[in-house]
Amino acid sequence: MSGKSLALGLLIVAAFGVAGYGIGRATMPAPKPDALAEPKSVDQVGFPEQLYKWSIPPDNPQSAAKVALGKELFFDPRLSVDNTVACANCHDPDKGFTDQLPTAMGVHAKFGHRNAPTVLNSMFNIEQFWDGRAPTLEDQAEQPILNPIEMGMPDEQTVVAKLSKIPEYQKGFQEAFGSAPTYRNLVEALAAYERTQNAFDSPFDRFMAGDANALTAQQKRGWAIFNGQGRCMSCHGWNPTRPLFTDDRFHNIGVSAHSAQFVPHARQALALLAKGGGSQQIDRLAIATDLSELGRFLVTKQPHDIGAFRTMGLRNLYVTEPYFHDGSQATIWDTLDHYNKGGVQNPYLDGGIVPLGLSEEQEDDLAAFLLSLTNQRYMAEAEKEYRNQFRISRTTRPQRDTAAAMGLKGRNGPGFSGPFGDIGPGQSAMIENPASLGGY
Ligand code: HEC
Ligand code: HEC
Repeated sequence: MSGKSLALGLLIVAAFGVAGYGIGRATMPAPKPDALAEPKSVDQVGFPEQLYKWSIPPDNPQSAAKVALGKELFFDPRLSVDNTVACANCHDPDKGFTDQLPTAMGVHAKFGHRNAPTVLNSMFNIEQFWDGRAPTLEDQAEQPILNPIEMGMPDEQTVVAKLSKIPEYQKGFQEAFGSAPTYRNLVEALAAYERTQNAFDSPFDRFMAGDANALTAQQKRGWAIFNGQGRCMSCHGWNPTRPLFTDDRFHNIGVSAHSAQFVPHARQALALLAKGGGSQQIDRLAIATDLSELGRFLVTKQPHDIGAFRTMGLRNLYVTEPYFHDGSQATIWDTLDHYNKGGVQNPYLDGGIVPLGLSEEQEDDLAAFLLSLTNQRYMAEAEKEYRNQFRISRTTRPQRDTAAAMGLKGRNGPGFSGPFGDIGPGQSAMIENPASLGGY
């Protein structure tokens, strides 16, 4: 647990003590569905119709009954062991289907190691989770229910037995599937509901559809930097068929390198996974242990995937703060400072992460451009958060390293100073050398 999430946890406990929810009740009550939880229309500017059709699995077609059931389930804390945590606790529609916490809090007020990504547009992900360990939304939904520090149910049978005793679900599953509840039907209904949560219809989409005035002059400059000097487009790709700002690949951009000990952890993970290696074991290592920082490596066991995470889409960012797989960056300006200085050095850093030489004004332009990727219905909230982050960015810039960003520190030359992650001066090569992964 990071210091930050610990502090937040204590804050929540304190707030609820005062608010009278009772001593020891530290989990937030599950959100109730409101207008933002309604299935969204596919009639949105910039909606990828072709991709949408391709992305509905033939063995789980959409139906109104299934979506309605999935929505009930998504907001129902009875899917958790102590009836406190629903999917919506960590994926709250009012917070862009995230929890806006650095890392997520599950049953017994336990914090995991990963930031909860948004469910919005998640049906278009080629793989789910920050490390891609689940191929589909159906496979994804199986994991949090059974994860001991998320929803904490002991096994599939217990979940199904619990749902089968609830009259409204006996009826709901009958209507949607013509059968009693099963674990497979449960995750199919959840996935069907998630496939209605798509958020395009942004100023950027209207701009690409031909409205030249949909972006401000500053946002247009930001879009040019995104494609050029900022190199963002090389990973966060946009095209009319896949307008999602991701290459659906995995890269080590140095986020974990602040704290991770990649090589010893990788060796430990290989030993653990050799004794098992099923998807549930990977899920538990990713959510609840320091091995979380290995990212994609836990899934592929390929050394080049150490510390690599999925390129996240960039839509609706100002309602899904904080950022990166560990929620380590509070503002968009912090993420931009991270890229501008060339990330954080480590032996597995992606070759595409280099100092960018962006000026302060150029970073401001990029931050303004990213606001233009916000869906209409989230825009008022997002503008508030954009102004908030702008204000913070005028005084607090923990990731800023202008000399590194301008290439004045060289790479590993004199004057090149930390943070270095694993390859810093004084680190033991015997421990940190990638070649020692097999152990010697
Ligand atoms: C305790 C908080 C918590 C609960 C409860 C929870 N999630 Fe999540 N969710 C997360 C976190 C954290 C991740 C990222 C984990 C990772 O990548 O290792 C995630 C990932 C996801 C993703 C993948 C999105 C992406 O871009 O990769 C989807 C979809 C999702 N959750 C849906 C659900 C559904 C459906 C439920 C209920 C069955 C649920 N979640 C319950 C915290 C939670
Ligand atoms: C080499 C590929 C690559 C490049 C180039 C790149 N990104 Fe990323 N981006 C990623 C990956 C991978 C992640 C997830 C990393 C993690 O959390 O460890 C990410 C995450 C982000 C996030 C956080 C998203 C979230 O939901 O938490 C933002 C914001 C972002 N990138 C913006 C940018 C911008 C702006 C640029 C250009 C200045 C850029 N990226 C360039 C690969 C890249």
